[in-house]
Formats: sequence, C-alpha cells, structure tokens
Amino acid sequence: MFIEIEQVLIDRHRIARRVREMAGAIAADLAAISAHEGSSVEDRVVFVPIMTGAMIFAADLVREMPIKLSLELVAISSYPGQSVVSRGARLASELPRDLAGKHVVVIDDILDSGQTLDLVRKAILTQNAASVRLCVLLRKNVQRVVEVEPDYVGFEIPDAFVVGYGLDYDGYYRNYPEIGTLSPLAIAQHPPAT
Ligand code: IMP
Ligand code: MG
Repeated sequence: MFIEIEQVLIDRHRIARRVREMAGAIAADLAAISAHEGSSVEDRVVFVPIMTGAMIFAADLVREMPIKLSLELVAISSYPGQSVVSRGARLASELPRDLAGKHVVVIDDILDSGQTLDLVRKAILTQNAASVRLCVLLRKNVQRVVEVEPDYVGFEIPDAFVVGYGLDYDGYYRNYPEIGTLSPLAIAQHPPAT
C-alpha cells in the first residue's frame, strides 16, 4: 500500500514517545504561567492546529495534554498539489476569533521556509493573545525565508521532502503512520508543478 515510501526516517514508536514528552513540556510551561499569575490559565488555553498537515500530530498531542484546553483550527495553503517547494503561505480559512487574553499554542507538522508559522503567529498577535507559543513536530534543516524560533520542536530532520503522520504529497500519504521519504519514482510519476 505504501510501496512509494523510500525510507522510514522516524517510526511510529519514536513519534509517540516524543509527542508525550512535548505534551509534558507544554503542560509544565502552562503550569508555570499559572503559578506566575497566581491563578490557573486552564480556561484560557487554546491550541490552534494548522490544517491539514498538523491534523494527526495535533490529535495525538492534545490527548496527551493533562489539562483543560480548547481547539480552534486554521487552514493555510503553501504546498498546493504536486509541489515539493513552498509557494509562500496564504490563509485559506478564517482566523479563530476571540483569542484576546488567551494562551495560544500554534501546532504545525513541519517548519520549512518559516512563512506559515510567521503568518499565523503575527495574525494571532494582532488579536492581543496573552501569549503565543509555536510547536512543530519537525524542523527541516534548510535556509529559512523567514526566521522563526519554535518553542517546541519534536525532531530535527535533513532537507528532504517527507510524508506521513499528516504530511502529504499531492494530498496523499497523510495516513502513513510513520515519517518517511518518498521514492523519486513516486514523484517522477507525478512530477511537481514548477
Ligand atoms: P513553510 O511555510 O515553508 O514553513 O511550510 C510549512 C508547511 O509546508 C507545512 O505546514 C507543511 O504542510 C508543508 N511542508 C513543508 N515541508 C514539507 C515536507 O517535507 N513534506 C510535506 N509537507 C511539507
Ligand atoms: Mg501545513
């Protein structure tokens, strides 16, 4: 079924372990804010997964979070169709409303050029959120178009096009449960629009 996967970079067990660790780190930071403010922030925590790539990661991450939180989705388009290079980020949905005073955790699958997270972070800050944290499962080792420093990074990966665990090529492979590279053959059969 997934014969087009060339190499597994991160298997599902490593992913699951790391997701649990990341949830622990986020929960600890939110607890520290509560301690600092002298009251719990739990009713003001909003997780904002960026669709569609962050869907699987976010689903696992929020279920490892031992606190009350709400979820608001945002859709960004950057790799349309058969593309393996970022085309720049564009909002493809409304932004969540009512983020004023909220502690927001933006979740994405991968940090590549930086344009997606930069756009979402700035848009959320204009709503006077109390804090905005950025959480990515993968950080690609590339020269970024926009410098972005995520607060939480799952794994550092080399400059390769990866699929699985939410990441797609031309809309496919999101349901592949590990993170892997795609065989050049699969890309050759569906050549990227350049
Ligand atoms: P950025 O705006 O260039 O940082 O791109 C981030 C978005 O591009 C992510 O949310 C992903 O959806 C997509 N993306 C970046 N690299 C990859 C990849 O290797 N495979 C699949 N999608 C990717
Ligand atoms: Mg994405």
